[in-house]
Amino acid sequence: MVDSPVEELESSELGTKEYWETSYETEIQNYKSHGDVGEVWFDEDSQLRIIKWIEKQEALICQDDAIIDLGCGNGMMLVELAREGYSDLTGVDYSPRAIELAQAICTDQDMCITYKVVDLLDRTDVMTLGKFKIVHDKGTYDAISLHPEDSKSMRESYMQSVDQLLKDDGLFILTSCNWTQLELVKSFEKHFSLYQVIPTPSFTFGGTVGNVVTSVVFSKKTKQ
Ligand SMILES: C[S@@+](CC[C@H](N)C(=O)[O-])C[C@H]1O[C@@H](n2cnc3c(N)ncnc32)[C@H](O)[C@@H]1O
Repeated sequence: MVDSPVEELESSELGTKEYWETSYETEIQNYKSHGDVGEVWFDEDSQLRIIKWIEKQEALICQDDAIIDLGCGNGMMLVELAREGYSDLTGVDYSPRAIELAQAICTDQDMCITYKVVDLLDRTDVMTLGKFKIVHDKGTYDAISLHPEDSKSMRESYMQSVDQLLKDDGLFILTSCNWTQLELVKSFEKHFSLYQVIPTPSFTFGGTVGNVVTSVVFSKKTKQ
């Protein structure tokens, strides 16, 4: 375990709401004109790996357990979960355009998924959502970490939101391309313990083994 605090990432426009609104505006136009659902972050394989992992936890996770996708974008993770039979699905994103796109795809596919415009850094918004057995995030913590202003306190407020949303016996599944497994464990240790690592493809460079994306599963720390 590393004792030093994790280093902040260099900020980027991917950390701003304006970037996502503009990006989903284009994706809505593409969807309307030729049915392209848009980007699935870190590709469909990483999505599939997570869904397969969830399916293997049948002793812990039932198909009617409440699942929320944080920063759901076009909602394709939830669409795939619905296809596999999961029925209590919620997607939130702070971009109204993302939610508009996700809702359009959901309606066209005749699926029942709840979508809401929610800023995960707004406690009042988050408090209205309830509790979930699975809290899932693919790429959203990464985006928040890239915010140009005070991303450190934003990351902390994101963690408090996840803590608020997760049931005591729930699992938080996080996929990141910006943080290593060690950094994620260190950053989240105040609220969560590492439960499992979902294996992702690795590469070796100069004798060091690395991963393009990291998928970790956390459980809630029991309060003393
Ligand atoms: C890299 S994209 C990932 C989208 C989707 N999860 C996927 O895997 O395809 C990051 C998403 O996080 C959303 N997001 C960023 N900050 C957020 C916040 N504070 N509250 C809610 N959503 C946020 C963005 O609008 C965007 O849809």
